[in-house]
Amino acid sequence: MTSAETTAERPRLLILYGSQTGCAADMADRVRREAKRRHFRPALFAMDEYDRAQLVNERLAIFVCSTTGQGEEPDNMKKFWRFLMRKDLPKGALAQLRFAVFGLGDSSYEKFNYPGKKLHKRLMQLGAQPYHPRGDGDDQHYLGQDGALDPWLDGVWNVLMQAYPLPAGLSALPDDVLYPWMQFADALDSAIQTTASTSTDRYLATLTRNERVTPHSHFQDVRLLEFQLDNRPFEPGDILDIMPENLESDVNDFLEHTGLVVCADRPFRFRETDPEHRLPSALRGTLTLRDLCRRWLDVFSIPRRSFFEFAAHFTKDPEHAEKLREFNSAAGQDDLYAYCHRMRRTTFEVLQDFRSIEIPLDYLLDVFPLLRPRQFSIASSPTMYPDRVHLLMGVVKYRTRLSTPRTGVCTRWIAQLDPTKQVSVGFRQGTMRLPTQPVPIVLIAPGLGVAPMRSLLQKRIECGQHDNILIFGCRHHAADYYCADEWEQMCGSGMLQLFTAFSRDQDEKRYVQHAIREQAQVLWAAIHTRGGAIYLCGKSTRMPEDVAEALCDVFAEQGGMSLSDAKAYLQGLKRVGRFQQECWD
Ligand SMILES: Cc1cc2nc3c(=O)[nH]c(=O)nc-3n(C[C@H](O)[C@H](O)[C@H](O)COP(=O)(O)OP(=O)(O)OC[C@H]3O[C@@H](n4cnc5c(N)ncnc54)[C@H](O)[C@@H]3O)c2cc1C
Ligand SMILES: Cc1cc2nc3c(=O)[nH]c(=O)nc-3n(C[C@H](O)[C@H](O)[C@H](O)COP(=O)(O)O)c2cc1C
Repeated sequence: MTSAETTAERPRLLILYGSQTGCAADMADRVRREAKRRHFRPALFAMDEYDRAQLVNERLAIFVCSTTGQGEEPDNMKKFWRFLMRKDLPKGALAQLRFAVFGLGDSSYEKFNYPGKKLHKRLMQLGAQPYHPRGDGDDQHYLGQDGALDPWLDGVWNVLMQAYPLPAGLSALPDDVLYPWMQFADALDSAIQTTASTSTDRYLATLTRNERVTPHSHFQDVRLLEFQLDNRPFEPGDILDIMPENLESDVNDFLEHTGLVVCADRPFRFRETDPEHRLPSALRGTLTLRDLCRRWLDVFSIPRRSFFEFAAHFTKDPEHAEKLREFNSAAGQDDLYAYCHRMRRTTFEVLQDFRSIEIPLDYLLDVFPLLRPRQFSIASSPTMYPDRVHLLMGVVKYRTRLSTPRTGVCTRWIAQLDPTKQVSVGFRQGTMRLPTQPVPIVLIAPGLGVAPMRSLLQKRIECGQHDNILIFGCRHHAADYYCADEWEQMCGSGMLQLFTAFSRDQDEKRYVQHAIREQAQVLWAAIHTRGGAIYLCGKSTRMPEDVAEALCDVFAEQGGMSLSDAKAYLQGLKRVGRFQQECWD
């Protein structure tokens, strides 16, 4: 019996992932590769791309899913999750399925790993049996998600290899065997010529305004952007996601460095070799390498661990190979952190350090992840600016110990775009929603957190609701007091009460928390006496905790409560949607 025949008798292993920013997708692909080495027949899909009707026929599965928003499931898991939650699914619908779930999350969030936990529970309710306890990955672990994934996967393979031992004559494949899941083919040689399909939930928006709103002397370049699109429905509080492109000059450097420049403009297609592992639909047509590098490959972000796993195969320099293998090993994670993550070194910079790496074209999509959309809170109301979307965008630029400043892929690209350029965008529901009743709202907005507040306020004012409070914080009145004229005009017309905190305009630092404590009486009257709702948006570092503490102090002082009762009061507001937050890192 040939090894292929023996493998055909090995069990199929369904691997489904839900991933917002690519980490869970990368881990699911690692599970697929490890399953292949053990001669399982892995079938890998994003949950929403999998034919859900087939789930009742699956015997063995691994689910990998991350958490986004405030404990929400990622976008590419939502339909699958709705399907699992259908009331008409009978209790034993998945009785034939044995499964394991790995959740990715961050324990600094209140709803740590909620989708993974809920998925595990729901699968059991439907009769499926876990063959291994749930794994909970945590960004706070010093090794990141791998800190939990490594031991969890060891456990999974122990169980599965005992349940499905390899037949005599077949052994697990060593680490240096690679499987291509697609081949790079000259488009002129291939039988079918198709053009890449485009997704139906993305739109082309025309950039009509790209204005710097902070002075050049200020450390951060912040842009007020305006996009024009035809009549796309959205609500105040919603998010626009933007699919970035790599800068042409960066792409040229990459093509030169890798030597791919010689065939950069020749049309080609990827040919799939594994029907259970499909190419993203946008890459199924004819492409050029230049276009692939500009619009699809993520070459200028911090590499994931899998990059090192692949790169080690593609160097003939034994020292480089050893170092790259070490970066991929559990023992090498401290070194990898020091070399890559702490410095924020990009994949391209790693390629420049390890010049011996030569990536075969067949493996381009294994080595480099795809660019992913970036999210921005919509800063305008759809009724005040029909067919337009405004964003307030901070251009990401900071320094580490590396000599060149670090820059954000998307914001750097957008910052240099001239108006009239087209950009691929999508809409997603944000976590904040205006109250349905005419109650006061208290908006707490340090820095760029004011973006969605502008949208909420515009909508309120259009609806004639003038009981609005904005607590805004930034560094300097003269530098990053975004949309100051608009707030002051609203105040002048009696539609807004505004309290500001300029942290660096005086000797003592002053933040939104200070303004909250100072306005205790006004806030208590709005929230408690008049039944108002609180909204908080901005960076998710220490800020949300500090604001929550300040609010609790207000409740304790004004409501005559103990601090623990004040905390319970705040929790109560959260539960009924009267304290909503949208915070990002
Ligand atoms: C729901 C939501 C709404 C958002 N709304 C807005 C908004 O309205 N306006 C806005 O400007 N941003 C907003 N953001 C944040 C924005 O999406 C990110 O800043 C985004 O990553 C920028 O994309 P980029 O490609 O330019 O940066 P990337 O290439 O993605 O790099 C960003 C990464 O760089 C790192 N980084 C950034 N600054 C530093 C630093 N000083 N030190 C060390 N590391 C750093 C962080 O790891 C960060 O994740 C929002 C995010 C979410 C999730
Ligand atoms: C905007 C945002 C919101 C998040 N919300 C949560 C959360 O509510 N709970 C949690 O446990 N982790 C949360 N996380 C952490 C992610 O789940 C974690 O970083 C994960 O590795 C991301 O995986 P992905 O790239 O596959 O989406 C959040 C991360 C981001 C960027």
